[in-house]
Amino acid sequence: MKMANMDDYFDVVIVGTGAAGLYCALNLPARYRILLLTKQKADESDSFLAQGGICMQHGEADYRPFFDDTMRAGHYENNPATVDLMIRSSNSIIRDLVRRGVRFARDDHGALRFTREGAHSRPRILFHEDITGHEITQTLLNEVLRCENIELREHTTLLDFFADASACGGVIAAGPDGEPRAIGAGAVVLACGGIGGLYKNSTNFPHITGDAIAMALRHGVACEHLDYIQIHPTTLYSHRKGRRFLISESVRGEGALLLDKNGDRFTNELQPRDVVSAAIRAQMEKDGTDHVWEDMRPIGEAAIREHFPNILERCEEEGYDPIHEPIPVVPAQHYFMGGITADLSSRTALPRLYACGETCCNGVHGRNRLASNSLLESLVFAQRAADDILYGEPPVFTGDKPDLAPYREQEPLFAAYRQEVLTAIERSKNHE
Ligand code: SIN
Repeated sequence: MKMANMDDYFDVVIVGTGAAGLYCALNLPARYRILLLTKQKADESDSFLAQGGICMQHGEADYRPFFDDTMRAGHYENNPATVDLMIRSSNSIIRDLVRRGVRFARDDHGALRFTREGAHSRPRILFHEDITGHEITQTLLNEVLRCENIELREHTTLLDFFADASACGGVIAAGPDGEPRAIGAGAVVLACGGIGGLYKNSTNFPHITGDAIAMALRHGVACEHLDYIQIHPTTLYSHRKGRRFLISESVRGEGALLLDKNGDRFTNELQPRDVVSAAIRAQMEKDGTDHVWEDMRPIGEAAIREHFPNILERCEEEGYDPIHEPIPVVPAQHYFMGGITADLSSRTALPRLYACGETCCNGVHGRNRLASNSLLESLVFAQRAADDILYGEPPVFTGDKPDLAPYREQEPLFAAYRQEVLTAIERSKNHE
């Protein structure tokens, strides 16, 4: 291996500190030197924002309904093998999260409580208030910070990855000083989220702009379904700039209703997300409004305060009182089902380059993700990547340190990346 001339070397470099990146790091052996990179602060990933919950197969009898719900929501374009693996792995993943200290809601007897969301035929979603993503991801991050073999670099931007004819050899990244550096790695894991930052109205952090997709496209690493973009039906309507605030689907799962300008229901609130979003858009057009209303009052004040305290607080900050009146909601971009093609072990088309979480497309979500499958998918396939890095038979990178000169001007580089992703989405829409 010609790693001696690199600026740095790690056994594994993981890009992204969401659930997938952190869990992959924690599933690798302590003897590995691991580098975790993140563009902003470690807790500024979309996993931290996930509200509703995480799915779990709720007893053996739930296997078939869970499988069918996932496939139906995905318009049967899902990969049945990845769906099967995700569902079969869910119990051991949840057990592991609880062992690591994640606190899910429980009843008075200590049994796990399950909530429901759209397109789920039965309750199978574990939750922690309305901040399940924060609870899970912060627990994983705390553990990572205690691991001496894992180095975390914040404000460090992935500029590219590099490869020779046989394998990926590492990444080019710039820290706060803006200086590009070549970091050699035995394996690289891309777990850097979706594309929400490319949209004016998105629930995602604005810095998450699909750069890794553009890099994969430039290197000829296969990507797929780049036009499979999920619009969440309900975000709080607001004149504030920036990220759209989610009104979790579990709010509707617990009984909230959608109302038109006259206060009448116009759709079944628990259909798949794409169907509810389309119904809201059609209603807005018919009514000539720029939002519809969501009425949380059927949930009841006590349950709102207990299960949805953060949503309540945010609505109050914006001048709404969900306990006594409907709140205005509007659909916004939320999730990317397409991405870098990955197999059951999260391997991409380039040996020693892995992709998991929203960055990848392993087919588990089909055309439209079932609510609360994203955290589960991220964790299952991050663990699979870790297993493959550990047990796989790697081809070895024997190339030289890449030329860093093209990476000195980063603004035009990222402008080009953004444009390339948008163009690829359009091409994908047109089936080119
Ligand atoms: C939500 O709480 O509605 C979002 C969770 C998810 O995207 O599955």
